[in-house]
Amino acid sequence: VTAAIPAPRGLPIVGNGLQVPVEGNHRFFADLAAQHPAGLFKLNLAGRHVVFVHDPDLVAEVCDETRFYKPVDGPLAEVREFAGDGLFTAREDEAVWGQAHRILLSAFSQRSMKAYFPQMLAVADGLVRAWEGRAEVDVTDDMTRLTLDTIALAGFGQSFKSFEQPALHPFLQAMGNALTEVMHRARQLPVVTSLKRKADSRYRSDIAIMQDTVDEVIRARRSSGEKSNDLLGLMLDATDPVTGERLSDENIRNQVLTFLIAGHETTSGTLSFALHLLLRNPHVLAQAYAEVDRMLPGDTVPTYETIMKLDVIPRILDETLRLLSPIPFIGLASRSATVLGGKYPVPAHQKIGVLLKPLHTNPAAWPDPETFDIDRWLPERKAAQHPHAYKPFGNGERACIGRQFALTEARLALAMVLQRFAIADPEGHRLTIKQTLTIKPEDFRLRLRLRKDHE
Ligand code: HEM
Repeated sequence: VTAAIPAPRGLPIVGNGLQVPVEGNHRFFADLAAQHPAGLFKLNLAGRHVVFVHDPDLVAEVCDETRFYKPVDGPLAEVREFAGDGLFTAREDEAVWGQAHRILLSAFSQRSMKAYFPQMLAVADGLVRAWEGRAEVDVTDDMTRLTLDTIALAGFGQSFKSFEQPALHPFLQAMGNALTEVMHRARQLPVVTSLKRKADSRYRSDIAIMQDTVDEVIRARRSSGEKSNDLLGLMLDATDPVTGERLSDENIRNQVLTFLIAGHETTSGTLSFALHLLLRNPHVLAQAYAEVDRMLPGDTVPTYETIMKLDVIPRILDETLRLLSPIPFIGLASRSATVLGGKYPVPAHQKIGVLLKPLHTNPAAWPDPETFDIDRWLPERKAAQHPHAYKPFGNGERACIGRQFALTEARLALAMVLQRFAIADPEGHRLTIKQTLTIKPEDFRLRLRLRKDHE
């Protein structure tokens, strides 16, 4: 017995495209998911027909890489305009994806994180120093300074010194604009995009600003003649063990741009959301303070080993990524015609969107889904979780290569902030979310005071 996939009604030609708000579509999708308890529904987004899934068993099916793959279309096809065949936007049939993946994989292993730790520490120290003596800070902006500087310094030996500048780096402004334009383009008909000349010329100049930043990073390394085992060093020197090929100059440029984008947006969103959730959950904040006081008493400078021994802070990050995953969905497509859930037929190359927030709060997999409960991540409860109900880092081979990097950097930054500062948001921060390709809190300010002054 087959069934049709439920499909909310749309308008002629544009379908449901215009119903999807550019800003804040995470809420639109959460509402639709709640209206479709079967765990899937289909939308027509200006001619792109996408099946959205949020039931963990259906997600398990679409995460089977023998049946589904990551297509580069929709917003990703737009990002490809400037990230080219970098890891994130490479197509699965491009040999260069495998070459870059194999060359870079060891640079992202947990072992390699130890090598990046001094740089991560230097940048996190810059954050807490910038916060000392300030009563109020813009969290999202400063977390963005932290994460951009960290990937630039640890990955490419480039110091952006963002905490010494009042304005965010021009790269960030250009990237924010370009990613917002990407979301506009993904929901409008191509003819509309081609008519918007002003938006297009701004988009081109934003892309040029990003590419200039990247060219400067590569030029600085080449002219220094320095040999280094960081990401850039590997890309310039290493050969792929399987094909014996090196990465081309153009591909290296695409990878550097990819890492600058993928390597900071999401981690800064995660850190900001974590602080927001800690303020809403003072009993968890108290546990976090107790942990840093135990592991990092006084002015103890964290070592890599101490950061790896933390227990509460990593669980805070796991739970933050469940409730407020900075990437709202991951895109997949069927390799050939198939049937979902035993009854919903889909054709070959059917586009699929896995909705992360609705998946991460699906009552079929999560008791008390909206509660911020870090004890879900205690080993015995974690072992009992549905294996496909949590995908903040994506799936399979195309999952996030930077996961350990992000988690190491985020643990360190959160530990250092809590070691020094008592945090509060006396106005009771109401979470508003800014969305481009990722989501992060908008206008999130914190009140700070030094903890040691009040002990
Ligand atoms: C891919 C999430 C941090 C580099 C992905 C994907 C997700 C993700 C969901 C899969 C996207 C898709 O299926 O289209 C996150 C989150 C992060 C984070 C939540 C922080 C908490 C980082 C960092 C780096 C990074 C720090 C680099 C230093 C990449 C790259 C890919 C990727 C290169 C593409 C991998 C491939 O397809 O080969 N990330 N990411 N990410 N991420 Fe991350």
